[in-house]
Amino acid sequence: MNVMPKNSMVQPEYSGAAKKALARKPSLFINNEWVESTTGKTVDVIDPSTGKIVSQIADASDQEIDRAVAAARQAFDDGRWTGLPPIAREQMIHKLADLITDHAEELAELEAIDNGKNAAVAKGMDIPASAGMLHYMAGWATKVSGSQIDPMASPSGAFHAYVRKEPIGVAAQIVPWNFPLIMATGKIAPALAAGCTIVLKPAEQTSLTALRLADFVEQAGFPPGVINVVTGLGETAGARLSTHPDVDKVAFTGSTEVGKIINRAATDSLKRVTLELGGKSPVVVMPDVDVEEVSAGAAGAIFFNAGQICVAGSRLFAHKSVFDKVVEGVAKHADDWAPGPSLCPEYRMGPLVSDEQQKRVMGFIESGKNEGASIVKGGDSPSDQGYFVNPTIMVDVNPNMKVVREEIFGPVLVAQRFDDIDEVAKAANDTLYGLGASVWTKDLSTMHRLAAKIKSGSVWGNCHSMIDPALPFGGYKQSGIGREHSSTGVEAYMETKSVIIAL
Ligand code: NAI
Ligand code: MG
Repeated sequence: MNVMPKNSMVQPEYSGAAKKALARKPSLFINNEWVESTTGKTVDVIDPSTGKIVSQIADASDQEIDRAVAAARQAFDDGRWTGLPPIAREQMIHKLADLITDHAEELAELEAIDNGKNAAVAKGMDIPASAGMLHYMAGWATKVSGSQIDPMASPSGAFHAYVRKEPIGVAAQIVPWNFPLIMATGKIAPALAAGCTIVLKPAEQTSLTALRLADFVEQAGFPPGVINVVTGLGETAGARLSTHPDVDKVAFTGSTEVGKIINRAATDSLKRVTLELGGKSPVVVMPDVDVEEVSAGAAGAIFFNAGQICVAGSRLFAHKSVFDKVVEGVAKHADDWAPGPSLCPEYRMGPLVSDEQQKRVMGFIESGKNEGASIVKGGDSPSDQGYFVNPTIMVDVNPNMKVVREEIFGPVLVAQRFDDIDEVAKAANDTLYGLGASVWTKDLSTMHRLAAKIKSGSVWGNCHSMIDPALPFGGYKQSGIGREHSSTGVEAYMETKSVIIAL
């Protein structure tokens, strides 16, 4: 079954605002100033819908990373941020969110040009979610609190003992390319609320919106050094930043491979680390469902953002009595996700982010075929230009295949049958990952039993990828360490101090 392209495969012309942002001189945002890299090294910015180079960003050297960390260190140590009244910090974070909302159109277009995601989708989803996270976290700046406790073995009144919450210090934040602005704001928001200062490094493939965000930092009134944004390659700039002795905490989202490198490096200095890594999330479909409704949901779970989402529902488990109908339904809905250029409003799905990612995903599809899987939909690319991959569905797979075990990070679904809930819980947990999972059923008992059995940081019922600032988010097993979002996400940027005073 082929995937039907909808219309033109030509990327429309960029707007004036986007052209202006693309013409920006490659530079880094340190101490509220734009500085050029001393080495003059740059990284190309490529529009994945065309494969063309459209701009350049600075590739920060060790010297600039050190400068950015020194700026954040100074801003933390002299109390420029923590010394402000909490309400002033809250208001600044809200202001930053408002500036994002005011520039929604431009930011959505930049996200589309840089990452390949559809501009209309970015405007409806990525931009409001980015502002939303800042608004949510802004509130915590005035609500962080400790407690007063009576020591257990002393007479009441002998001591005054209390627990203080204090910001950890300088946070290095390294984020990936799949949701550039959401990732950047998702990292800085809780750190700011906790009172930390920041050096943020966006992914080298998608730094445009983080640089635009830096423009807003000063407008929102943040003192110099509180938020610094550096661009550059992971192996150099990212490595220098995450191992820097003046960094107190590293927060990372990206591959499990790099997460392990960061965690290992942090062992020596005992830096605080939170990691949000890969996934291979199961979508479990019970026999009592409305197949049409679930098929649309399961298609969205894997094809949204071209499958480049850590919680992508990449393993479909459908009960044997509905398996054929569900696979047929998802294949039909795959046509709703035919990929096209990111600035064409008629496409919900764009290309993959890079040539490298397209090759990686096509390599997985080849490996599936070689291991005996059958392709019932897609498996190819609709165009020689840009990094498109058609929505793809594979059946006749077994639990040992690479396509079933490894994170593909593309629009590729593997579908398997099951008989009963113990069997499917075991199969769903037969993975190194544990980030998200969805269960589709009308039966409440089955829903709650599976929710308890599945080992993952989030379990969704009759929906998928329902990620919200108010709910803890993170992974079991190799999907990560720690939780983001909610009060837990703010705690991850704080130390706990017990103060015990003999009266
Ligand atoms: P990556 O993990 O290499 O890149 C993510 C971020 O880490 C980028 O900002 C990069 O510059 C930085 N980085 C890379 N190497 C580093 C190092 N040694 N030290 C410090 N920072 C470093 O991810 P990549 O290579 O772009 O994608 C590879 C695979 O990773 C994808 O196919 C996908 O499976 C997975 N991935 C998962 C993501 C998630 O949201 N969980 C996001 C992006 C990728
Ligand atoms: Mg990498």
